Amino acid sequence: MKIAIMGAMVEEITPLLEFFGKYETIEHAKNRYYTTSYKGMDLVIAYSKIGKVNASLTASTLIEKFGAQKLLFSGVAGALNPSLKVGDLLVATKLAQHDLDITAFGHPHGYVPEGSVYVETDKALTSLAKKVAFAQKIPLLEGIIATGDQFICDGVKKEWIHTTFNADATEMEGASVAVVCDALNVPFCVLRAISDAADMDAGFSFDEFLVSSAKESAQFIIAMLDEL
Ligand code: ADE
Repeated sequence: MKIAIMGAMVEEITPLLEFFGKYETIEHAKNRYYTTSYKGMDLVIAYSKIGKVNASLTASTLIEKFGAQKLLFSGVAGALNPSLKVGDLLVATKLAQHDLDITAFGHPHGYVPEGSVYVETDKALTSLAKKVAFAQKIPLLEGIIATGDQFICDGVKKEWIHTTFNADATEMEGASVAVVCDALNVPFCVLRAISDAADMDAGFSFDEFLVSSAKESAQFIIAMLDEL
């Protein structure tokens, strides 16, 4: 079984590379892919760089070039749901692109013809995440993630995304990874630890908590691997 683990920023995969210790580095398409093995599984790990286009390229490469059969995304997100605090973990049930807008033609926000507003994640991986959370007594919210090529740091925009997509958290890659995995029939999950509240203080909070929240998420992904 070959598993891809993907983040968007170097901070999101560094805890993984530190944990696995030994890995090979392969350069491809202006990026680096790290391969290793763990408990009989072949792993390929990469960070995409920020945003939906980079994330789509990396997810596609992990699957089409490296042969990943499952994809686990690990990283940080801004909270939209007021019950989510810095460090809390969220596993996505479905994801939408909040900045995809052809409402001029009567379509709902996030919709493109022949697509859908939401892409659902793999139910077996979500169940696995819940099992790990229960066993480790870690609170884990199942919720909706809204993705866009924007760092959200504004109360009005935050509220719009929250209400329009019923979304619990926002980030900049998940829904594009979801589109790729769904199209290529690869089971995937998106796990995020909260780094900020997507409000006017989000930039400061993100800078302060990126490393610690990214580590929370990565550690949880390792615990999931132990149960895969
Ligand atoms: N990732 C972490 N926090 C975020 C925010 N506020 N907006 C977009 N992506 C994020």
